[in-house]
Amino acid sequence: MRLQFSALLTALIAAPLLGVWASTPALYGSGDRGRVPKGFVTTKGTKFRLDNNDFAFVGSNSYWLPLLTTKHDVDLTLTDAKAAGIKVMRTWGFNAINATELPTALSTNLTYYQVWNSTHFDVNYGAQGLERLDYVVQAAERIGVKLILAFTNNWSGYGGAELYIEWIKPGSPNHDIFYSDPAIIAEYQRYVKLIVNRYKNSPAIFAWELMNEARCLGDLPSGPNCPKKGLISKWYKQQSDYIRTLDQYHMITTGGEGHFFWDNPPSFWNDGVLTVDYNYDGEAGEDFDGDFKIPNIDFTTYHLYVDSWYPELIYSGSNFSAYDWGLQWIQQHADAAKKGGKPVVLEEFGVPTYQEKLQFYPGWVQKALDTYHGGIMPWQYGQLGLTESGGNRPIKYADAIIDGASPNDTNTFYKNQTDIWSIFTRAAAVQNSRST
Ligand SMILES: *[C@@H]1O[C@H](CO)[C@@H](O)[C@H](O)[C@H]1NC(C)=O
Ligand SMILES: *[C@@H]1O[C@H](CO)[C@@H](O)[C@H](O)[C@H]1NC(C)=O
Ligand SMILES: *[C@@H]1O[C@H](CO)[C@@H](O)[C@H](O)[C@H]1NC(C)=O
Ligand SMILES: *[C@@H]1O[C@H](CO)[C@@H](O)[C@H](O)[C@H]1NC(C)=O
Ligand SMILES: *[C@@H]1O[C@H](CO)[C@@H](O)[C@H](O)[C@H]1NC(C)=O
Ligand SMILES: *[C@@H]1O[C@H](CO)[C@@H](O)[C@H](O)[C@H]1NC(C)=O
Ligand SMILES: *[C@@H]1O[C@H](CO)[C@@H](O)[C@H](O)[C@H]1NC(C)=O
Repeated sequence: MRLQFSALLTALIAAPLLGVWASTPALYGSGDRGRVPKGFVTTKGTKFRLDNNDFAFVGSNSYWLPLLTTKHDVDLTLTDAKAAGIKVMRTWGFNAINATELPTALSTNLTYYQVWNSTHFDVNYGAQGLERLDYVVQAAERIGVKLILAFTNNWSGYGGAELYIEWIKPGSPNHDIFYSDPAIIAEYQRYVKLIVNRYKNSPAIFAWELMNEARCLGDLPSGPNCPKKGLISKWYKQQSDYIRTLDQYHMITTGGEGHFFWDNPPSFWNDGVLTVDYNYDGEAGEDFDGDFKIPNIDFTTYHLYVDSWYPELIYSGSNFSAYDWGLQWIQQHADAAKKGGKPVVLEEFGVPTYQEKLQFYPGWVQKALDTYHGGIMPWQYGQLGLTESGGNRPIKYADAIIDGASPNDTNTFYKNQTDIWSIFTRAAAVQNSRST
């Protein structure tokens, strides 16, 4: 077993970097950063621009896209998404495991790009590795959907910050060492460089994303420097500056949840205790208003999960309105974007029940359409009719393809839920009419 793994790893590491997008396209268009190549999205004030037109969009999320094992299913997903009006799909540009997980990954055909077994990760360039991400980028380019690629995860899912910490600074008492330790930052940048250089000439890339939902705390608590010393803001600046040295054209964004760091954050009563709201007091580590001031952050992101953020306020008879809170959250981010002078994207949002989806989404989507010109991206896109493994395959964790349906977390919406689906296809039509 052991020899086999070493031989395999060596072969993977030795594989040459594929020059898939070797030629540099002609420069085109205008934006705040000047000319960008044709087909690249850029910004002008609070709007996105594509080839000298405004670009407003409905997008969605499908983290599982590069986990598919057949080209057919990737094509089907992107073709159906495009037909529904989705212009931008966000997916994970990371997939890391440790060597303990390698045998299972190999036997289940799981996609993985990084394997940790020391302070330096190994790269899987092979058919079960980056070749799958290559195909997603190629298919997106051919079919005409753009991609947001995130480089790592706050969560441990599919390999995140905790994996870097576990291998480079084992025993660290804090999660936020991820944002400050030089050896961790060097390994993060080694991965970022590899991905950026691989796809930097592709117009299919909408934007690079630093991290999904960066927070001071993860499974580990936050340390004394986070949030007080603005550690995440510093990290956003450092990493976006670094990416700009590798790629002068593609947009860069945070991937943050959009927490505010206000001097006078709102508070609420919880069980007789006046509680400061962590979405506004900077406790999570983000400073949404400050994100706009980071030179190489081209646009900002925010997420909206009111049910999981305020479980203590949502009970029968409560005077808290989850729907109204969502409207307010959208308005506040629109106001911040106006002040910050850059576009904003509602990058993830979801509610768990069908009933709530029907009640909340039309008003929330309309609010976003009414208040700003950026993007609206529900979590998460559901695909039906997947064919690999006969339409049934466990992927990882509880994620599985069942009867041809992509992984079904409670927030997933599928095409056959026509009343929910049509909320987004209608919004996409509005966004298209503004993209001229
Ligand atoms: C694993 O995925 C590859 C495509 O990446 C596919 O060609 C192969 O048939 C799959 N193997 C199994 C056992 O499903
Ligand atoms: C590696 O992965 C396994 C399985 O997920 C996990 O139990 C273990 O803690 C991880 N870390 C190390 C350092 O092996
Ligand atoms: C990972 O490292 C351990 C300890 O050095 C070693 O026993 C094991 O074979 C390694 N696994 C792989 C897949 O390289
Ligand atoms: C960050 O990830 C950890 C798991 O590593 C999780 O416990 C925490 O809630 C996450 N925070 C988010 C999503 O902001
Ligand atoms: C809701 O009830 C709490 C007490 O539980 C009260 O402090 C608060 O003012 C009420 N909010 C509204 C909007 O009525
Ligand atoms: C996904 O799960 C929900 C329940 O959470 C269910 O109503 C729906 O039918 C499922 N969809 C598919 C395609 O499996
Ligand atoms: C949609 O299709 C899936 C998979 O075929 C099925 O499980 C689900 O019940 C269907 N939902 C509706 C609303 O028809």
